[in-house]
Amino acid sequence: MSVKPDSPMGNPLLDEQDKKIREKLKQIDNKIMVMSGKGGVGKSTVSINLAIGLSLQNFYVGLLDVDLHGPNVPKMLGVERGELQRRPDGTVGPVYYSPNLKFMSVEPLLPERNSAVIWRGPLKMSAIRQFIYDIEWGKLDYLVIDAPPGTGDEPMTVAQTIPEAYAVVVTTPQEVSLLDVRKSITFCKQVNIPILGIVENMSGMVCPHCGKVIDVFKRGGGQKLAEELGIPFLGSIPVDPRIVTTGDAGKPMIASYPNSHTAEAFEKLIQNVINATQSLNAKIKQEKGSEKQKQED
Ligand SMILES: Nc1ncnc2c1ncn2[C@@H]1O[C@H](COP(=O)(O)OP(=O)(O)OP(=O)(O)O)[C@@H](O)[C@H]1O
Ligand SMILES: [Mg+2]
Repeated sequence: MSVKPDSPMGNPLLDEQDKKIREKLKQIDNKIMVMSGKGGVGKSTVSINLAIGLSLQNFYVGLLDVDLHGPNVPKMLGVERGELQRRPDGTVGPVYYSPNLKFMSVEPLLPERNSAVIWRGPLKMSAIRQFIYDIEWGKLDYLVIDAPPGTGDEPMTVAQTIPEAYAVVVTTPQEVSLLDVRKSITFCKQVNIPILGIVENMSGMVCPHCGKVIDVFKRGGGQKLAEELGIPFLGSIPVDPRIVTTGDAGKPMIASYPNSHTAEAFEKLIQNVINATQSLNAKIKQEKGSEKQKQED
């Protein structure tokens, strides 16, 4: 087999893919991975409501579901068995949710709705890479990436494939979940993903009868931890039974009940994510500028 002499990985196919990935990523201004150390804390809920909220502010948004074992994005968006766009030039685009929100998940590629694929590490890596280099995302303001729990192959592949991605870490207020946040933060530091901040989900509940806040799983732990770790706190989302019903019905909360207290909490979170992204972008640009200056001096 002939190997290109200047190929650092010794594999021309991978080099070609890397080139395509870099080209595709250039068209996407901001990439945000939503992650957590623990399962079921609300990553997909936060990703979906964040993506829809951004799209409602007229941003061009992509939502990439890298949970290959349990892709929840299509169901939660109400677009199961969605059609990938097949274009006349033979390229393939993501599934449209609305004119300025498109998503990609492994689900449209599965032969049947309930198919279970056995994924091994390298296969996961190539699937996630393919979601970038083989899919025509077009120009996007934000790409929101919904990760499975933990610090395994999927977030690792995102970190390697999208080196300029930022992370949003979701937690619930319980001690155990907070402990797992520390692991996510350590992971981000190890793989060089700047952290936008922490979200506390299932943070108190507004009683539908008396309007008082009930601390179902306690409250405030996420904020305390953020302060302790010197990381921005992006916001709290209360427990709201409508999050389950709207998620199951494929009509996300922020779009179904835009005037609710919970939608307001999502709006605040989204604004904080936008602000944190802009200030990190500015900080990184400045750091790069002064590094270049140093080299020139
Ligand atoms: N604030 C909330 N109030 C009530 N229910 C919620 C809230 N956030 C999430 N849920 C529900 O909890 C369940 C788990 O949420 P979700 O799927 O978003 O978590 P996840 O972290 O993505 O899970 P996984 O680790 O399996 O990917 C869902 O049924 C969802 O509707
Ligand atoms: Mg999920």
